[in-house]
Amino acid sequence: MECGQEHLFETWPAPGTGDDDKKRFMSQAMVCDSGYPGGIASYVTNAKKLLSDSKEGKNPFEGWTPSVPDGIVVDYASDGHLKLEQKGMQEIGSAAFVLVAGGLGERLGYSGIKVELPCERATDSSYLQLYVHSILALQSRAAGEMPAHRSAKDVGIPLAIMTSDDTHAKTLDLLDRNDYFGAKKEQITLIKQEKVPCLINNDAHLALAKDDAYKLQTKPHGHGDVHALLHTSGLLKKWHTAGKKWIVFFQDTNSLVFRVVPGALGVSKEKGFQFNSLCVPRKAKEAIGAITELTHTDGRKMTVNVEYNQLDPLLRATINEDGDVNNDKGASPFPGNINQLIVSLDEYKTQLENTGGQIEEFVNPKYADDTKTKFKSPTRLECMMQDYPKALGADAKVGFTVFDNWVGYSPVKNSPADGVGKFKGNNPTHTATSGEMEVYGCGAKLLELAGASVAKPVDFKANDIVVPSGPRVVLHPSFACTFDELKGKVGKGGVNLKSPTSALVVEGSGITLESLELDGALVIKACAGANVTVKGLTVTNKGWTYKPVTDGNEIDNLRGFVVEKHETKEIVFAKPGNYTVS
Ligand code: UTP
Repeated sequence: MECGQEHLFETWPAPGTGDDDKKRFMSQAMVCDSGYPGGIASYVTNAKKLLSDSKEGKNPFEGWTPSVPDGIVVDYASDGHLKLEQKGMQEIGSAAFVLVAGGLGERLGYSGIKVELPCERATDSSYLQLYVHSILALQSRAAGEMPAHRSAKDVGIPLAIMTSDDTHAKTLDLLDRNDYFGAKKEQITLIKQEKVPCLINNDAHLALAKDDAYKLQTKPHGHGDVHALLHTSGLLKKWHTAGKKWIVFFQDTNSLVFRVVPGALGVSKEKGFQFNSLCVPRKAKEAIGAITELTHTDGRKMTVNVEYNQLDPLLRATINEDGDVNNDKGASPFPGNINQLIVSLDEYKTQLENTGGQIEEFVNPKYADDTKTKFKSPTRLECMMQDYPKALGADAKVGFTVFDNWVGYSPVKNSPADGVGKFKGNNPTHTATSGEMEVYGCGAKLLELAGASVAKPVDFKANDIVVPSGPRVVLHPSFACTFDELKGKVGKGGVNLKSPTSALVVEGSGITLESLELDGALVIKACAGANVTVKGLTVTNKGWTYKPVTDGNEIDNLRGFVVEKHETKEIVFAKPGNYTVS
């Protein structure tokens, strides 16, 4: 009532009547209250202010001038990159990982959770499996480099997964069914974000559900919740006590992110960044947020993500009348933010203790008319995890690390139908079709950079989009965590993937591909402790066909093809020892 919410109780019958419903209402309200820093009272105050700013059409960048911030553009596989990876690997045992996986995934339109989707059909590994295996692989490398006075258990690398009511039960079930993909149960913690109440007008009146006068209408508050949750769940404190120094945030579908984490962590360490955004090169006006330094007329400074539709007008109004244009290298000088973030835990923990994890919010009401007094449907406040640096002081070291798309960024966000639209507009499609081919493309390119001969990709059409498709190479995280490691496991000039339809799956840290001629499908696996040298091996078989379909199951239809495995040479070493395959 003190928050101006009398309307919620207007239809309540006299005391003693309908008490069960009233209690039901209050218990939901209490969940909302405890899920928001400062409770519903703060939520309503913040909403009134933001709704008033929105009604007035206030420019959020009034007084700010943009410039290109401090950051590093990494040339993957260069000497400089290898040095950064080495630096990053010295830190990796002190890292904790956070996967934000509470999103609805409406654009993709999959009925399950995104992290259960296979990232490719060669091995059928789900995203979550890939992530957990990547963390376990990094952990084993970190343990190998431990100084003698510390034990291997010191480098258990924790993973927190932020879920929501839409994804929590299914995520837990996926982990349970798969025995946590080989991780220790206590290594993985689920933290669930709560939804926030919807608002019906500029007075921030809370909305009741259409069909239930004892239920608040709620919607997701956005991935920015992750910061408050890490604080309130006690995880940050726990990680700090366990000696962790870094937190790496990543998203539900990016099969490539672990390829660039060691190098980016090396950048964080070398540059002393307390907040490092992983980026890809961005074409001017491309629909991806841009990392930008902003300086205010009053002297304030911050390095933040500016949404692409705000960057162009901001540049025109300040430093460049042409707006967001390409430089002589054909890219915007403002790198594209892929929202995989590395923060330094010490400063992060102190900051969250001061702010409670509150992130700058925004509101995006759809107004019914020009008076801007009525909304078409209830709105709510939202927040984004990349807005964390907005609350930092001017002296905070905030920067970015750019890697090329092929090695760092492969999201699967769009439905096949939306993918076609993007394809026709010459934009990245970010579909399950492109996502799968990008896994293979990255694997093949890594082998090539390490000295292998790899057949050139050809066009592959599925779901009415065309994607480049070369040899289907899947390098399991256990095979190599860094390019430095991978380079040492591939014989220069000795490995030849002869046709674009060849398939190669490699799993196991002890495998070295010294010389191999492949025209078909080869799967080679070695358990921990099995050292396998592939030397003078020739494999020729019927291999696998990637066959376009439109009438398969839901997962097949998302990517628009199935894999027909006609013939596979499978070599498996299940016992430790030294082996040569020739
Ligand atoms: P996306 O931008 O992909 O949003 O989120 P989404 O909600 O999953 O998908 P659409 O917009 O409905 O199509 C980026 C990352 O943030 C997580 C997502 O799970 C994804 O990893 N996320 C998003 C959350 O954890 N919570 C949220 O409230 C929103």
